[in-house]
Amino acid sequence: MYINIYFSGIFGYVNYLVERTRGEIVNTMLDGMQRLEYRGYDSAGIAIDGDKPNEVLLFKEVGKVAALRKLYENSDTDNKKVFNTHVGIAHTRWATHGQPSPINAHPHRSDPTNEFVVVHNGIITNYREIRALLEGKHFVFETETDTECIAKLAKYVYDLNKHRDLDFTELTKLVLMELQGAYGLLMKSVHYPNEVIATRKGSPLLIGVKTEKKLKVDFVDVEFPEFAEITVDSPMETSNGLLALPQSNGLSNGSLLVPMGDNDLRRSQSRAFVSDDGIPMQIEFFLASDPSAVVEHTKKVLYLMDDDIAHIYDGELHIHRIRREDGQPTIRSIQTLEMELNEIMKGNFDHFMQKEIFEQPDSIINTMRGRVDFEKKTVTLGGLSSYLQTIRRCRRIIMVACGTSYHSCMATRAIFEELSEIPITVELASDFLDRRSPVFRDDTCVFVSQSGETADTMLALQYCIERGALTVGIVNSVGSSISRQTNCGVHINAGPEIGVASTKAYTSQYVALVMMALSLSDDRISKQARRHSIIDGLSKISKQVEEVLALNDRIRAMAETDLINQKSLLLLGRGYQHATALEGALKIKEISYMHSEGVLAGELKHGVLALVDENLPIIVLATHDSLFPKVMSAVEQVIARSGNPILLCNKGENALSKLHKTYRTLEVPATVDCLQGLLNVIPLQLMSYWLAVKKGFDVDFPRNLAKAVTVE
Ligand code: UD1
Ligand code: M6R
Repeated sequence: MYINIYFSGIFGYVNYLVERTRGEIVNTMLDGMQRLEYRGYDSAGIAIDGDKPNEVLLFKEVGKVAALRKLYENSDTDNKKVFNTHVGIAHTRWATHGQPSPINAHPHRSDPTNEFVVVHNGIITNYREIRALLEGKHFVFETETDTECIAKLAKYVYDLNKHRDLDFTELTKLVLMELQGAYGLLMKSVHYPNEVIATRKGSPLLIGVKTEKKLKVDFVDVEFPEFAEITVDSPMETSNGLLALPQSNGLSNGSLLVPMGDNDLRRSQSRAFVSDDGIPMQIEFFLASDPSAVVEHTKKVLYLMDDDIAHIYDGELHIHRIRREDGQPTIRSIQTLEMELNEIMKGNFDHFMQKEIFEQPDSIINTMRGRVDFEKKTVTLGGLSSYLQTIRRCRRIIMVACGTSYHSCMATRAIFEELSEIPITVELASDFLDRRSPVFRDDTCVFVSQSGETADTMLALQYCIERGALTVGIVNSVGSSISRQTNCGVHINAGPEIGVASTKAYTSQYVALVMMALSLSDDRISKQARRHSIIDGLSKISKQVEEVLALNDRIRAMAETDLINQKSLLLLGRGYQHATALEGALKIKEISYMHSEGVLAGELKHGVLALVDENLPIIVLATHDSLFPKVMSAVEQVIARSGNPILLCNKGENALSKLHKTYRTLEVPATVDCLQGLLNVIPLQLMSYWLAVKKGFDVDFPRNLAKAVTVE
């Protein structure tokens, strides 16, 4: 059910018989990493060879690649040293396991002498088991990451098998058998100088090839194992010392691949890389999680498939599989990339905002991943579990945020009140501070922020800390100031949001807040039926978001014909949909520069109705919930003033046909009332997007605005 999206970036550079100074090598690596910057990251690192034989140097830094470049330049590393052949690996990290810090940044190492170093995208789900096992073997872990266990496991397997003289591929196969989860992985080792392993499962990886001479063939043969599969008795450790953790990858429990003997360990020649005259070919390889890092060097690329093990040595690229599978292709073709850099970075999308809008079916799933059990109907928020009792006993919950993040609080306030039965106030951070609102020790203050760095929200957090309240963060950026300075919290795990206009962070904040409300009420029998219906709703929401995204073309047409020349746009909603109206209006203002107002439908007759005539465009959020009749009465009032509203309603809404006029409608699927806003906001995001595109505005970087507002 889950679609994986991993955001960290991998880059590797191999020069074979191509003379490069260390400075040039490092520059190529840092430039490659900079190409991955658009994906968002919080720290970066590289591994390169040192001056002594068998020496690998690591440089790791928090922040941008520029900071890493500075760290490297300030080191006394000899930039002029020339390498005829060399392997460097690099990584930009978006923190998931553990805070952003130099130590948690990749590459990760097997031991203080850097015998094995790895960079990794993805998640090793059984890292705790591997870590425990290796700690039992006296390995000392230095980071909070899941990745470190891969480097240490490689060393452990290598040491146990020294007498076998395993080549790098064979060693890798033994390591991969123990890993569960997803990975794009590069590995380098002092035991295999000038060699690199690149392998993937569920996380993309490609290899760019650059040669002076033409490649002989434009494909690489896949090599199948010369291993025998044996069954071992103990699931944890065999008599010959190899690991076989329960549920080993690729093989059944307790099975091991064992090399058949030295005579059988032939290295076949890779056809693509053999020159006619038999003289080894000068060649460079660029390994990356994303073609944007490769395309400036070469357009010849080979995409690895899941479970491929690419082994580069002696200027050749070999692709191995752990086992032979029927019907699988036996070659990997070297393709020519036709795309330009800009196109690659945004995938099939023209702007980051558009990409992020369309990512929402996945980002919402990522927010719930590992936290919601749809069968048992439970929600577990690891970051809150030890604070739930305190929160349940608090006098009130104060939610504090700015902009879109504030709207996610508005959108979930009612369900919080209903499920927790605790009074909830929702505050704009600046106003909360301006009023110097009273805060007490028995208050719980929830700070919602995508960036975790918004100055007003941060100041409000300081204010509440000083008053002794319990502080909770709902934050996207792991390691951000708000994430670090709150007592506890929930990372929304939406992945980096690059477009200034917040879209996927909103829907993920919304889901995270609903999950928090569900957690707070999981001890209340009287709320069980309601909780279960919400959890059922959450289980379907990603698919429904996809359905709403299918309205894209209609919304584009509506924006381009009906709305483009308008000066103003009114959005009406009440109850849960008031927040949707506010958020839609903010999106429209922010990127299309059109005046737009989100109005509480109940307030219409108290002033706003004066604006209504046959010209003013009005969108009414008229999906079905207990307030639907009241919303329809607002629609009638608008029509009575010759208004011509567009109704955002549920599919096949009968009540509308009772009205005499034919309305323009946008029909969205129905879900539980408190989740409907997740679906309703999407047409408004798309509308703002198409209005801005049609007007030729800079969608991702609207004028006068910044992604993280770090000034008061
Ligand atoms: C954590 C791991 C996740 C791992 C999971 C498995 C991190 C960042 N997350 O996720 O990679 O898969 O365990 O058990 O390592 N926090 C704050 N303020 C905030 C946000 C969070 O103090 O604004 C705290 C939480 O209270 C918690 C920690 O940061 O102590 C991590 O939070 P979160 O990522 O939400 O926790 P898990 O979902 O348990
Ligand atoms: O990073 P934060 O969520 O704290 O940012 C708060 C606001 O600046 C932000 O939501 C802003 O309103 C968005 N750019 C709107 O799309």
